Amino acid sequence: SASPASSGGVVRRRRVLMFPLPFQGHLNPMLQLAGVLHARGGLDITVFHGTFNAPDPARHPPEYRFVPVGEGVAWADLVPSGGGGDADDDIPGALLRINERLREPFRDRLRQALALAEDDAAPPPACLVLDSNLREMQLVAQELGVPTLVLRTGAAACLVAYMAFPALCDKGLLPPTSKDKSQLDMPLDDLTPLRLRDMVFSSAATPANMKKCLKCLVDAARSSSGVILNTFRDLENSDLEKIANGIAVPIYPIGPLHKISSGTADSLLAQDWACLEWLDKQEVDSVLYVSFGSLACIDEKELLEIAWGLANSQVPFLWVIRHNLVKSSSNDVSLPDGFKEETHGRGMVVPWVPQQEVLRHHAIGGFWTHNGWNSTLESICEGVPMICRPQFADQMINMRYVQDVWKIGFELDGDLERGKIERAVTKLLCMEEGRHMRQRAKDLRNKAIKCIKEEGTSKSAIELLVNHIMSF
Ligand code: UDX
Repeated sequence: SASPASSGGVVRRRRVLMFPLPFQGHLNPMLQLAGVLHARGGLDITVFHGTFNAPDPARHPPEYRFVPVGEGVAWADLVPSGGGGDADDDIPGALLRINERLREPFRDRLRQALALAEDDAAPPPACLVLDSNLREMQLVAQELGVPTLVLRTGAAACLVAYMAFPALCDKGLLPPTSKDKSQLDMPLDDLTPLRLRDMVFSSAATPANMKKCLKCLVDAARSSSGVILNTFRDLENSDLEKIANGIAVPIYPIGPLHKISSGTADSLLAQDWACLEWLDKQEVDSVLYVSFGSLACIDEKELLEIAWGLANSQVPFLWVIRHNLVKSSSNDVSLPDGFKEETHGRGMVVPWVPQQEVLRHHAIGGFWTHNGWNSTLESICEGVPMICRPQFADQMINMRYVQDVWKIGFELDGDLERGKIERAVTKLLCMEEGRHMRQRAKDLRNKAIKCIKEEGTSKSAIELLVNHIMSF
C-alpha cells in the first residue's frame, strides 16, 4: 500500500520530480498532487518551476525542494499580455514558446538533480510528473532516462476532445470555415454532447499552433508511463473509458484533488477572507458568487452590464473583480455611479477570494463562472449550480457537460446585456429550474465525497498510482 518501499528490510525513500505549468489553474492541482504523494505516499518532492508565477516555498513543507528553471527567460515575451491570457491571445503559441525556451535550462537542472541524487547516494528520482502541456520537458526527461507521468489538469472529456482534434481537422471541420451559427452549432457525432464551436480554442489561436499544441499534449499522454487526471469515475466514467481505450498507458482518475489535499496555499493573489464573515450573515443558498478565474478578461462595457444586471436582479452577490479582469486603456476602472448605493448591504465586490471556502459556504446558492476546470470541479464538489460564461481553451467543453450532461447549470451566451443577466441570475437563484439544478449538483457532490473515502474509486487510484511510482 501507500508507504515507502522497503528492500532488504531497509526503507527506501523515493523522490518524485514535478513540473507544473506556471498558471494558477495548473499550479494548484500539481501542488495538491505533491501533497497527496508526500503525505499519503511517503514520497519526497522536488518541484521544478518557471520564474514566472513561481510557487512560494514558504507555504509548503520545508522538506520539499524547489528548483527554478530558466531564470534568464524573459517571460513577458513568452506569455500573452505579459502574464495574463484570454480569448484574444494566441495561447497555443505561448505554450509552444514556453516549451521551446525552457527546454535547455530544464536539461541542465534535471542533470543537476540526477547528479545530486548520486552524491547523496540516494536512489535516483523515481519519475517526473509533468503538466500535459510540457511535451519538450518530457522529451528531455526521456533522453536522460527518467520515466514520466503526465498530469492532465482538465476534464477527461477535454482530453477525449483533444484526441479527436486531428481527425476533425482532416475531415475539414476544423477550423470552422465561417462564423455561421448553424455551422458552429453542429453537433459532433463521436463527441456527444459537444458542438463544433466548443472545439474552437480561441479566436486568436492560429490553426497551425493549435494543431501542433494539441498534438504535443496528446503525444505527451501517449508516451508517458501513465496519465493522472483531476476528475472522478462517477463524474466522467464514459470519457475515462474512451481515454483508456485510446491511450495505451494506465490512467489514474484521482480527483477532486483539492478535496484530498489543501489547495489554497498556492494562491498567487492575496485572498480576502473577510468575505466569509459577510457570507455568514446571508441566508442559505441565497448568494450568487461571480468570478472568472485567473486569466479571463471582460471589457468596460461588459463590466457595466454585469454591474447593473446584478443590481437589478435583487439577488445578494459576491463578485470578484481581479486587478486585471477589465481590459481597458486606463488603469482606473471603476464601477458605475450609483451601483454601490443601489447594492449596499446586498452585494460585495472583492479583488480575490479563497474560492474553495466561498463555494463551501452554506450561503452560496449559485456560481457565475467562466468554467475553467478547477472552478467547475470546485463548484460540483460543493453542490453549487452554475451560470456558464466560457471564453477560451477547455471552458466551452466544460460548459457543455455542465449544461447538457450533468444538467447543473446553463450557458449565458452572446453579448452581455443587463436584462439577460438579470433573468439568468433570477432563474438560477429564485426559480424552480435553478432549484432542480442545485439538487442535481448536490447529488454529484455526494458522489465526489464518496469517491475519496476508503475504498472509493479515487482513493484506490491513488494507491495504484503510488505503487506504480514505487515500481520505477
Ligand atoms: C486556466 C484556464 O483558463 C482553464 O480553462 C483551465 O481549465 C485551467 O487553467 P483559470 O482560468 O485560472 O485556469 O481557471 P480555473 O481552472 O477555474 O482555476 C482558477 C483557480 O483559482 C481555482 O482553483 C480557484 O479556486 C482559484 N481562485 C479563483 C481563487 O482562489 N480565488 C478567486 O477569487 C478566484
